[in-house]
Amino acid sequence: MTLDELQRWAQANRPAALIELSDNLVFGEGNPAPQLVFVGEAPGEDEDLQGRPFVGRAGQLLDRILAAVSIRRDEVYITNMVKYRPPGNRNPKPEEVAASEPLLLRQLELLRPQIIATLGNVPTQYFLKTTEGITKTRGKWFEWHSVRIMPLFHPAYLLRNPSREHGSPKWLMWQDMKLLKEALDSLGPKSMAPVVIDTAHQERLF
Ligand code: URA
Ligand code: URA
Repeated sequence: MTLDELQRWAQANRPAALIELSDNLVFGEGNPAPQLVFVGEAPGEDEDLQGRPFVGRAGQLLDRILAAVSIRRDEVYITNMVKYRPPGNRNPKPEEVAASEPLLLRQLELLRPQIIATLGNVPTQYFLKTTEGITKTRGKWFEWHSVRIMPLFHPAYLLRNPSREHGSPKWLMWQDMKLLKEALDSLGPKSMAPVVIDTAHQERLF
Protein backbone atom coordinates (compact mmCIF):
# COMPACT_ATOMS: atom_id res chain seq x y z
CA MET A 1 0.00 0.00 0.00
CA THR A 2 1.18 3.54 -0.78
CA LEU A 3 0.43 6.74 1.13
CA ASP A 4 -2.00 7.77 -1.64
CA GLU A 5 -3.83 4.48 -1.30
CA LEU A 6 -3.96 4.84 2.47
CA GLN A 7 -5.38 8.36 2.08
CA ARG A 8 -8.10 7.11 -0.26
CA TRP A 9 -8.84 4.25 2.10
CA ALA A 10 -9.14 6.68 5.05
CA GLN A 11 -11.48 8.94 3.06
CA ALA A 12 -13.81 6.00 2.53
CA ASN A 13 -13.54 4.57 6.06
CA ARG A 14 -14.11 7.23 8.68
CA PRO A 15 -14.38 5.90 12.24
CA ALA A 16 -17.78 6.45 13.83
CA ALA A 17 -16.12 8.02 16.91
CA LEU A 18 -15.07 10.99 14.74
CA ILE A 19 -18.66 11.93 13.87
CA GLU A 20 -18.54 15.37 15.61
CA LEU A 21 -15.46 16.46 13.68
CA SER A 22 -15.27 18.29 10.36
CA ASP A 23 -15.91 16.32 7.15
CA ASN A 24 -12.56 17.08 5.51
CA LEU A 25 -9.65 14.71 5.95
CA VAL A 26 -6.30 16.46 6.46
CA PHE A 27 -4.04 13.51 5.83
CA GLY A 28 -0.55 15.02 5.93
CA GLU A 29 2.09 16.03 3.41
CA GLY A 30 5.79 16.06 2.68
CA ASN A 31 8.61 13.67 1.91
CA PRO A 32 7.16 10.13 1.58
CA ALA A 33 10.46 8.67 2.85
CA PRO A 34 11.40 11.16 5.57
CA GLN A 35 13.92 10.83 8.36
CA LEU A 36 11.83 13.18 10.49
CA VAL A 37 8.04 13.35 10.90
CA PHE A 38 6.19 16.09 12.81
CA VAL A 39 2.91 15.07 14.45
CA GLY A 40 0.58 17.88 15.56
CA GLU A 41 -2.74 17.75 17.38
CA ALA A 42 -5.55 18.19 14.84
CA PRO A 43 -6.30 20.52 11.92
CA GLY A 44 -7.63 24.01 12.55
CA GLU A 45 -9.87 26.09 10.30
CA ASP A 46 -7.27 26.95 7.65
CA GLU A 47 -6.10 23.35 7.47
CA ASP A 48 -9.68 22.13 7.20
CA LEU A 49 -10.35 24.54 4.32
CA GLN A 50 -7.14 23.78 2.43
CA GLY A 51 -6.83 20.07 3.25
CA ARG A 52 -3.19 20.59 4.28
CA PRO A 53 -1.60 20.43 7.76
CA PHE A 54 -0.07 23.47 9.46
CA VAL A 55 -0.92 26.16 6.92
CA GLY A 56 -2.59 28.69 9.29
CA ARG A 57 -0.84 31.01 11.75
CA ALA A 58 0.65 28.15 13.78
CA GLY A 59 1.83 26.53 10.57
CA GLN A 60 3.47 29.72 9.40
CA LEU A 61 5.33 29.89 12.71
CA LEU A 62 6.33 26.24 12.28
CA ASP A 63 7.73 27.16 8.84
CA ARG A 64 9.85 29.91 10.42
CA ILE A 65 11.01 27.55 13.18
CA LEU A 66 12.09 24.97 10.58
CA ALA A 67 13.85 27.62 8.51
CA ALA A 68 15.72 28.86 11.62
CA VAL A 69 17.52 25.50 11.89
CA SER A 70 17.75 24.92 8.12
CA ILE A 71 15.24 22.10 7.94
CA ARG A 72 13.29 22.24 4.68
CA ARG A 73 9.56 21.64 4.99
CA ASP A 74 9.68 19.36 1.94
CA GLU A 75 12.40 17.12 3.41
CA VAL A 76 10.20 16.18 6.38
CA TYR A 77 6.64 14.87 6.62
CA ILE A 78 3.98 16.78 8.58
CA THR A 79 0.74 15.33 9.88
CA ASN A 80 -1.56 15.32 12.91
CA MET A 81 -2.68 12.84 15.54
CA VAL A 82 -6.32 13.49 14.61
CA LYS A 83 -6.97 14.07 10.90
CA TYR A 84 -10.22 16.09 11.13
CA ARG A 85 -10.89 19.48 12.68
CA PRO A 86 -12.64 19.31 16.06
CA PRO A 87 -15.58 21.74 16.47
CA GLY A 88 -14.38 25.18 17.62
CA ASN A 89 -10.81 23.81 17.61
CA ARG A 90 -11.38 22.12 20.96
CA ASN A 91 -8.80 19.51 21.95
CA PRO A 92 -9.56 16.08 20.56
CA LYS A 93 -11.28 13.81 23.10
CA PRO A 94 -9.51 10.66 24.27
CA GLU A 95 -11.91 8.50 22.25
CA GLU A 96 -11.16 10.58 19.15
CA VAL A 97 -7.44 10.11 19.67
CA ALA A 98 -8.01 6.36 20.10
CA ALA A 99 -10.10 6.20 16.93
CA SER A 100 -7.35 8.04 15.02
CA GLU A 101 -4.58 5.71 16.15
CA PRO A 102 -4.86 2.99 13.45
CA LEU A 103 -4.54 5.49 10.60
CA LEU A 104 -1.58 7.27 12.19
CA LEU A 105 0.19 3.96 12.83
CA ARG A 106 -0.35 2.76 9.26
CA GLN A 107 0.90 6.10 7.96
CA LEU A 108 4.04 5.84 10.12
CA GLU A 109 4.65 2.28 8.96
CA LEU A 110 4.72 3.55 5.39
CA LEU A 111 6.84 6.61 6.23
CA ARG A 112 9.33 4.70 8.43
CA PRO A 113 10.81 7.80 10.08
CA GLN A 114 13.86 7.61 12.33
CA ILE A 115 12.70 10.58 14.42
CA ILE A 116 9.21 11.78 15.34
CA ALA A 117 8.80 15.28 16.75
CA THR A 118 5.50 15.66 18.60
CA LEU A 119 3.95 19.13 18.76
CA GLY A 120 2.08 19.83 21.99
CA ASN A 121 0.36 17.66 24.56
CA VAL A 122 -2.00 15.55 22.46
CA PRO A 123 0.52 13.63 20.31
CA THR A 124 3.17 13.68 23.06
CA GLN A 125 0.89 12.04 25.60
CA TYR A 126 -0.16 9.50 22.99
CA PHE A 127 3.38 8.43 22.00
CA LEU A 128 4.81 8.51 25.53
CA LYS A 129 1.73 6.93 27.09
CA THR A 130 1.86 9.56 29.80
CA THR A 131 -0.32 12.26 31.31
CA GLU A 132 2.80 14.35 32.02
CA GLY A 133 2.52 17.83 30.49
CA ILE A 134 4.66 19.01 27.60
CA THR A 135 6.56 21.47 29.81
CA LYS A 136 8.02 18.40 31.60
CA THR A 137 8.70 16.22 28.56
CA ARG A 138 9.85 18.72 25.90
CA GLY A 139 13.45 18.72 24.82
CA LYS A 140 14.14 15.15 25.98
CA TRP A 141 14.58 12.05 23.86
CA PHE A 142 12.24 9.11 24.19
CA GLU A 143 12.03 5.86 22.26
CA TRP A 144 9.00 4.34 20.59
CA HIS A 145 9.28 1.17 18.45
CA SER A 146 12.96 1.98 17.79
CA VAL A 147 12.00 5.49 16.62
CA ARG A 148 13.39 8.45 18.56
CA ILE A 149 10.74 10.83 19.87
CA MET A 150 11.35 14.50 20.63
CA PRO A 151 8.42 16.31 22.29
CA LEU A 152 8.17 19.99 21.40
CA PHE A 153 5.93 22.88 22.34
CA HIS A 154 3.04 23.44 19.96
CA PRO A 155 3.58 26.48 17.73
CA ALA A 156 0.13 27.80 18.75
CA TYR A 157 1.40 27.94 22.34
CA LEU A 158 4.40 29.96 21.16
CA LEU A 159 2.03 32.37 19.39
CA ARG A 160 0.36 32.98 22.75
CA ASN A 161 3.76 33.40 24.46
CA PRO A 162 5.78 35.60 22.13
CA SER A 163 8.61 36.52 24.52
CA ARG A 164 12.08 35.45 23.39
CA GLU A 165 13.68 36.00 26.79
CA HIS A 166 16.09 33.46 28.23
CA GLY A 167 13.96 30.62 29.64
CA SER A 168 10.78 31.60 27.76
CA PRO A 169 8.87 28.97 25.73
CA LYS A 170 10.30 30.37 22.48
CA TRP A 171 13.81 30.26 23.88
CA LEU A 172 13.26 26.66 25.03
CA MET A 173 11.89 25.78 21.58
CA TRP A 174 15.05 27.14 20.00
CA GLN A 175 17.19 24.90 22.26
CA ASP A 176 15.01 21.89 21.41
CA MET A 177 15.14 22.59 17.67
CA LYS A 178 18.94 22.76 17.80
CA LEU A 179 18.98 19.29 19.45
CA LEU A 180 16.58 18.00 16.81
CA LYS A 181 18.66 19.39 13.96
CA GLU A 182 21.84 17.92 15.45
CA ALA A 183 20.21 14.49 15.69
CA LEU A 184 18.91 14.77 12.14
CA ASP A 185 22.35 15.68 10.82
CA SER A 186 23.99 12.76 12.62
CA LEU A 187 21.68 10.11 11.11
CA GLY A 188 23.11 7.74 8.56
CA PRO A 189 21.52 7.29 5.16
CA LYS A 190 17.84 6.48 5.40
CA SER A 191 18.30 3.07 3.75
CA MET A 192 20.65 1.98 6.55
CA ALA A 193 18.09 2.57 9.26
CA PRO A 194 16.53 -0.58 10.69
CA VAL A 195 13.27 1.14 11.50
CA VAL A 196 10.46 -1.27 12.12
CA ILE A 197 7.11 -0.19 13.43
CA ASP A 198 4.88 -2.85 14.88
CA THR A 199 2.25 -4.01 12.41
CA ALA A 200 0.03 -5.87 14.86
CA HIS A 201 -2.79 -3.34 14.53
CA GLN A 202 -3.17 -3.82 10.78
CA GLU A 203 -5.93 -6.31 11.18
CA ARG A 204 -7.98 -3.70 12.98
CA LEU A 205 -7.56 -1.28 10.12
CA PHE A 206 -8.29 -3.53 7.15
N1 URA B 1 -2.52 22.85 14.81
C1 URA B 1 -2.27 21.53 14.70
O1 URA B 1 -2.07 20.83 15.70
N2 URA B 1 -2.25 20.99 13.49
C2 URA B 1 -2.42 21.68 12.36
O2 URA B 1 -2.38 21.08 11.27
C3 URA B 1 -2.66 23.07 12.49
C4 URA B 1 -2.71 23.63 13.71
N1 URA C 1 0.40 23.77 26.67
C1 URA C 1 -0.06 23.21 25.57
O1 URA C 1 -1.22 22.81 25.46
N2 URA C 1 0.78 23.06 24.51
C2 URA C 1 2.06 23.45 24.57
O2 URA C 1 2.78 23.27 23.58
C3 URA C 1 2.52 24.04 25.74
C4 URA C 1 1.67 24.18 26.80
